[in-house]
Amino acid sequence: MSKPAYVIDEMISAKSIAARIEELARDISSEFEDTDKLVVVGLLRGSFVFIADLVRELDLPIEVDFIEASSYGDGMESTREVRILKDLRGQIEGRDVLVVEDIVDTGHTLSHITEYLGTRHPARLRTIALLDKPARREVDFKADWTGFEIPDEFVVGYGIDYAQRNRNLGFIGKVRFVGEDG
Ligand code: IMP
Ligand code: MG
Repeated sequence: MSKPAYVIDEMISAKSIAARIEELARDISSEFEDTDKLVVVGLLRGSFVFIADLVRELDLPIEVDFIEASSYGDGMESTREVRILKDLRGQIEGRDVLVVEDIVDTGHTLSHITEYLGTRHPARLRTIALLDKPARREVDFKADWTGFEIPDEFVVGYGIDYAQRNRNLGFIGKVRFVGEDG
């Protein structure tokens, strides 16, 4: 049996993403206008495109760091158990921190990560997610900023993968499976 075939239907264009990031960056820049240094923390790997575009719109002194949590593996279902695979390189105690995530789905990942980073006593700890699927939530978590609310669809592109593929698409697309006959 071969793997099921799928097509990708565009859901959010590259242009809409860029426009939304400009708005988000303005909000974030004003929230942190008094910071002496904002540590922008990307959650690997899905946030790598988003964080790259976002930080270039921020009018603030920043540092960039990364953290990696266990994820879906190659499937479409969350494991719910979140483990830290790669920790921050830098110290965040007393610092302003913005955690950047691709999608809030069940909410387990970001609620775990913020709890974990909170134990290091940052001055301010905020979160931003490009996408939010509120219909899928299992734990009560809301990012401080969200790019787009989307329905319960599996999406790829702009850093987000399905079994490690399609991260390099410039837009967000929805995965649609097609039968053997098309
Ligand atoms: P949560 O812990 O269920 O909120 O899951 C968040 C993580 O699941 C995100 O960082 C994504 O990596 C992954 N994820 C959730 N929805 C999708 C999707 O539609 N496509 C690809 N990955 C997803
Ligand atoms: Mg992820």
